[in-house]
Amino acid sequence: MSFFCKWVSFLLILHLLLLNSCLISSDGFSQIPKKFLDLAKRDDFFDWMVGIRRKIHEKPELGYEEVETSKLVRTELDKMGVSYKYPIAVTGVVGYIGTGQSPFVALRADMDALSMQEMVEWEHKSKIPGKMHACGHDAHTAMLLGGAKLLKEHEEELQGTVILVFQPAEEGGGGAKKIVEAGVLENVSAIFGLHVTNQLGLGQVSSREGPLLAGSGFFEAKISGKGGHAALPQHAIDPILAASNVIVSLQHLVSREADPLDSQVITVAKFEGGGAFNVIPDSVTIGGTFRAFSAKSFTQLKKRIEQVITRQASVHMCNATVDFLEENKPFFPPTVNDKGLHQFFKNVSGDLLGTENYFEMQPLMGSEDFSFYQESMPGHFSFVGMQNEAHSPMASPHSPYFEVNEETLPYGASLHASMATRFLLLDSKTSSPNQSYKKDEL
Ligand SMILES: *[C@@H]1O[C@H](CO)[C@@H](O)[C@H](O)[C@H]1NC(C)=O
Ligand SMILES: *[C@@H]1O[C@H](CO)[C@@H](O)[C@H](O)[C@H]1NC(C)=O
Ligand SMILES: *[C@@H]1O[C@H](CO)[C@@H](O)[C@H](O)[C@H]1NC(C)=O
Ligand SMILES: *[C@@H]1O[C@H](CO)[C@@H](O)[C@H](O)[C@H]1NC(C)=O
Ligand SMILES: [Zn+2]
Ligand SMILES: [Zn+2]
Repeated sequence: MSFFCKWVSFLLILHLLLLNSCLISSDGFSQIPKKFLDLAKRDDFFDWMVGIRRKIHEKPELGYEEVETSKLVRTELDKMGVSYKYPIAVTGVVGYIGTGQSPFVALRADMDALSMQEMVEWEHKSKIPGKMHACGHDAHTAMLLGGAKLLKEHEEELQGTVILVFQPAEEGGGGAKKIVEAGVLENVSAIFGLHVTNQLGLGQVSSREGPLLAGSGFFEAKISGKGGHAALPQHAIDPILAASNVIVSLQHLVSREADPLDSQVITVAKFEGGGAFNVIPDSVTIGGTFRAFSAKSFTQLKKRIEQVITRQASVHMCNATVDFLEENKPFFPPTVNDKGLHQFFKNVSGDLLGTENYFEMQPLMGSEDFSFYQESMPGHFSFVGMQNEAHSPMASPHSPYFEVNEETLPYGASLHASMATRFLLLDSKTSSPNQSYKKDEL
């Protein structure tokens, strides 16, 4: 072997050593995301994340009941040597990696499933009848554990503390609100959250600055009349007809009262009452959801929903009571991305995936309880693609045919780890840490 060859192999070995041990000082700041992605794509790392995701998928748990999922998260954190607080917000787990000192940056995953029956036939299908991970929260939990492992392996290089938030009850339960109320995110400079999407290819991401997802609320109304024989309507007060008119009138709120350029939705998704072909029932229960992008439109909708239901019911001599279910289903504020954090996200995801794989989104009427974090600290929410060319189109979230392309797990894990690492590097350098990340005025 010539001297030259020896020198080259020495450099190669040195390079490999640096690749595994040191992220920042070897090739610099912009290489951090790609290095994390390479690490997360290693066979053993990938298989480990897939194993976690499948285990969670087989045993879906609803909001605030994530007992086994939470235990699995803690077991994995224990194995990594990551310290955590538990229980936070009933079943939530909050982990810590880094110096233990400020600045603090938080990464969030949700753990809950939906009450629906999985219709996909595969080896790791849900083993719990009537419950299913149909929104990808099993993948989100695996991705954040992946991110945690990457960060823990490079803990010495972190310029601050990463707080890992494994929250319960995103699907309507407002687990994020309870996490914020628990006070564990005090002093956090920024929080980042991801959601898988079937709208983008593998290795693609999307988001936008400002309003991204709508604020949402739920309502339920009982419309009471007087039951009787279906052939003798004159002796009854028909709540089915009253409820039908209520539903039609509710549809006029968005079409006739809202600014056409200010997107809003009212959907009645529940209609229960009666049961026989020849009996007018005593009462009918209807329920649904309403969405808007500003607090003003949201409040106005809420007020009018109540008025329309009670007054329209009384047109038909029925009585109605309206319940906005805030105890169990708190109103979600709109998800609004911080301007500075959005530029930061584009920078980091650009270095990870190439700027051509970032896609600007239109706002969606869907909602996320991530917005509760954004009410009390600057936050950024984005989507990570998982389309599979060979298997498309993929079912949308909340479909019983929903599937996750597990190839997306390394992208989520490395995005988490890079966002946190880079944020701490920037934040620890500025004298006034989060000056540039002040929450946008809506
Ligand atoms: C936030 O910072 C204040 C002041 O330094 C400190 O008293 C408080 O304990 C911190 N909260 C958390 C959750 O770390
Ligand atoms: C509606 O409420 C009023 C006042 O409580 C009551 O007198 C009336 O019987 C109720 N009507 C129906 C259809 O329940
Ligand atoms: C994004 O990258 C540009 C170009 O490197 C840099 O000037 C800017 O400060 C970065 N912004 C954030 C928020 O990271
Ligand atoms: C950083 O941001 C948090 C949350 O917005 C805030 O409470 C804190 O005062 C900020 N710190 C500085 C030094 O600006
Ligand atoms: Zn969902
Ligand atoms: Zn979701």
